[in-house]
Amino acid sequence: MHVFKTIEETHRYINKARGLNQTIGFVPTMGALHEGHLELMRRAKKENDLLVVSIFVNPIQFNNPTDLKKYPRVLFKDLELLKPIGCNAVFAPSVNEMYPEPVKKTFDFGSLERVMEGAFRPGHFNGVAIVVQKLFEIIAPHKAYFGEKDFQQLAIIKSLVELENIPVEIVPCDIVREKDGLAMSSRNVRLSNEERAIAPQIYKTLKEVKTKADEMDPVSIQQWGLEQLQGVNEFDVEYFQIADNQTLQPIESWPADNGVRAFVALNLGQVRLIDNIRII
Ligand code: PAF
Repeated sequence: MHVFKTIEETHRYINKARGLNQTIGFVPTMGALHEGHLELMRRAKKENDLLVVSIFVNPIQFNNPTDLKKYPRVLFKDLELLKPIGCNAVFAPSVNEMYPEPVKKTFDFGSLERVMEGAFRPGHFNGVAIVVQKLFEIIAPHKAYFGEKDFQQLAIIKSLVELENIPVEIVPCDIVREKDGLAMSSRNVRLSNEERAIAPQIYKTLKEVKTKADEMDPVSIQQWGLEQLQGVNEFDVEYFQIADNQTLQPIESWPADNGVRAFVALNLGQVRLIDNIRII
């Protein structure tokens, strides 16, 4: 497994692979790898000749400096997890390598970036789009794999690829959960034992919300779900939103053809958690 720190050596490797007509499956990450990441990687490895992974904690997508500071950084442990997956190359650059100068680009994702994560984390998706575009330029993947836990991020990246005409196929992958239902996240390791025991209430509520779609309208379900989450003392709920699966805009009645999802973001102690579920 190659580990590259610079864009130049990564380019050389990618150019050689492309010259040999090898297909490249890419999984971008911020490290602190867990089973959710590894699932994306196993799939990418199966569907492509080469698996390339990036590990880069992207400072410009953090709107909260404490969150950036506390984000787990465990490169050596991550590399050990990648070897058995058969990862061919890891790109793990420094901040200076990625951003030798401040980046000023501003994307316009329209209404997609004005709701939920976009509304609560100003600048977050612009930072994600900048780094993902740059990573796509460096890795030139045929396919890139993203988890549906960050469902809005996935929608933003699909939009980025369309806006910028990037020749890559975006492959959405199911959320991977712990046995008790908690969506896997690099942030979970920061939960105390007590918080970790409470966290599965999020998915429990989402599953209950799903069962109510037959008998209630979206506005009432949203209110019900919000109250359930707010009823857990330890949860500091940012939003609970029933939204269109494609536009991600809030809905007031069940749509005829598009799907619908419930989305949640909340703070549990010092840790911000997000999750979602397809309702119809
Ligand atoms: O989902 C993540 O881990 C990050 O947002 C990504 C896509 C690697 C960009 O930094």
